[in-house]
Amino acid sequence: MTDVRLTQMQLNELELLRAGAYGRAVRYELPDRSPHVATLLVGELAPGSTVTLLDTETTPVATVNIDDARTERRGTWLSGAITMLREPATPSFPELRPAAQGDPFGQATLLLGRSVGRVDTPVIVVDRGDAHALAKSVRSVRSDGLDVRVLPEPAASHLDGADRAELLTHLASVVFSSSVRVIRGEDDTRGDGLVVLFTGLSGSGKSTIARQLTRRLRAESSQRVTLLDGDEVRAMLSSGLGFSREDRELNVRRIGWVASQISAHGGIAICAPIAPYEVMREGVRAMAEQVGRFVLVHVATPLDVCEARDRKGLYAKARAGEIKEFTGISDPFEEPARADVVVGADGESVDDAVETVLAVLTGRVEANYVI
Ligand code: ADX
Repeated sequence: MTDVRLTQMQLNELELLRAGAYGRAVRYELPDRSPHVATLLVGELAPGSTVTLLDTETTPVATVNIDDARTERRGTWLSGAITMLREPATPSFPELRPAAQGDPFGQATLLLGRSVGRVDTPVIVVDRGDAHALAKSVRSVRSDGLDVRVLPEPAASHLDGADRAELLTHLASVVFSSSVRVIRGEDDTRGDGLVVLFTGLSGSGKSTIARQLTRRLRAESSQRVTLLDGDEVRAMLSSGLGFSREDRELNVRRIGWVASQISAHGGIAICAPIAPYEVMREGVRAMAEQVGRFVLVHVATPLDVCEARDRKGLYAKARAGEIKEFTGISDPFEEPARADVVVGADGESVDDAVETVLAVLTGRVEANYVI
């Protein structure tokens, strides 16, 4: 028996399946030409086996008897009947969700962005995993005196853009039995949360820039800002870990998880580990983008400059062979291919680097983040 711990989005999908969004039979389906299927992506599994689905608290909530599976590049897609064992951990606003079976609406408006604008029908808002953002949307619709319902966003990660909007519109009309008009708000994004990941060599100035950015955002943003500095994390959250590739991956994954939690609750997390491998940075991006925004900052101070500074004396020790696996000397640093902003390469001041990062954040986020 294999256990699969569902993400919040996959729990949403289970909720939609049970509400009849994909037809009457409660089962996962393989993805095919139709985008309107629930999909469960797992590791190696063969038809004939049974999977136990766990909720985010690792409580078993259902089993799936697999009768078909298809493996493609991203993993194995399962198909099979679902047997519920118990209700998953309570989602936000149970009384507004599909299972609550409220009165059907004739007309409803599905809100895919933030602002409702002028609307006189009930409004359906999408639960994208940020409880804070969801509560804000629900409050805002209610304060306009409108009826509101919550549509769980499914884990249809193979869809985006227009296909995603089409799927959500379809699901909303099925589970709330209404004719649904879509309004795309100006800012069609996930929650308010933000993860900024700084990456760069030891001594590149990551921590200094991250600290100053944190101060600026604390002064200018209405959101709480948390700084997860590489060295500080290693003293506590990752104490005991070394600098092998495995330990670095675990370290950065922990940072990414904590940062995503902060973001999921509407906060801003600024992280500054070396994060030397592309795969770990993309891992943090994937986690963070499930709940909010993600910005990757490469502090590209050249190695010779970092080494010449050598504030901690570590480069000298690494050159002398006293420290093994030292990033840049005896361990790799993969150049980030997908940095949203690059600073430090031309020897600009810390102030200038912070301004550059702020400018990128301002362009990507609502004006209330920064002036
Ligand atoms: S990461 O690779 O796992 O992202 P992290 O940012 O947490 O690294 O820790 C890097 C800090 O640990 C450096 O700033 C440096 O002070 C210290 N350090 C000690 N040994 C090493 C090493 N072998 N390679 C890189 N940094 C090291």
